[in-house]
Amino acid sequence: MSEGLYAGKVVLVTGSRRGVGKAIAEHFLNNGADKVIGFARGAGSIDHPNYHHFEVDVGDTESVIKGFAALKQVTDSIQIVVNNAAVLTSQYSMIMPPAAAQAMVNVNLLGPFMVSREAAKMMRKRKWGRIINIGSMAASLEPIGDSMYAACKAGLSTLANVMAKEFATMNVTCNTLGINAIESDMLAQLPRDKIDAIIAGLPVPRMSKEDDILNVIDFFAAERSAQITAQTVFLGGVN
Ligand SMILES: NC(=O)c1ccc[n+]([C@@H]2O[C@H](COP(=O)([O-])OP(=O)(O)OC[C@H]3O[C@@H](n4cnc5c(N)ncnc54)[C@H](OP(=O)(O)O)[C@@H]3O)[C@@H](O)[C@H]2O)c1
Repeated sequence: MSEGLYAGKVVLVTGSRRGVGKAIAEHFLNNGADKVIGFARGAGSIDHPNYHHFEVDVGDTESVIKGFAALKQVTDSIQIVVNNAAVLTSQYSMIMPPAAAQAMVNVNLLGPFMVSREAAKMMRKRKWGRIINIGSMAASLEPIGDSMYAACKAGLSTLANVMAKEFATMNVTCNTLGINAIESDMLAQLPRDKIDAIIAGLPVPRMSKEDDILNVIDFFAAERSAQITAQTVFLGGVN
């Protein structure tokens, strides 16, 4: 068994191919996780002996079911799940293409539901688990152009809060981390002046750094956080 904060742990991170998800997956690997399972639609981009990548579209229920069947070839247990994969189309509601709205529901809400429930079935055996959803400040700030994205991210907290009740007897906690803005392909889609204006209005007026995110991930994942469940933590003073 490896050494480190996550020694003995098997972790599943969705959207691990790039951006925030890749940083989170690498954090668990760098801190001794026995195995990190990554889901993304594209090929894996992490080269580490403890990393196992599966091409899964979390917005497609069949693909998630197949992904879990495949990952059971490399592990019979999962202790920590990070629901990070998401898609964003930012557009006024009246001109939002319906297919883009549907994709956000499928990937950002149905995906975490499917992944969490399949993972919980595996966590049940050892009666221990941590489910961490990556939310967004959009859930609280409700920016123009993000009706469906913000609704999905708000729904993600609700999803975690209900699952927290359902899974409590299995010692599985469910929490949400609402990040503000961090450099990534997703952020690059948005007008920078709009982001800068939002960030300037926050109590801590700067974008998130990787370590801001990893700090809360470590908090939610900690052994000592058994009583931390059904919570949403926002970065930067958003509430
Ligand atoms: N960046 C920000 O400023 C910001 C702000 C607030 C919240 N967030 C949240 O932070 C999380 C990470 O965002 P990011 O900025 O890192 O996004 P990103 O750069 O667009 O990366 C998204 C990741 O998710 C994967 N993904 C997308 N659709 C998927 C699907 N259907 N099935 C499986 N994997 C999928 C992508 O890989 P493939 O393309 O290969 O599938 C990629 O690895 C998201 O939940 C996002 O909503 C980000």
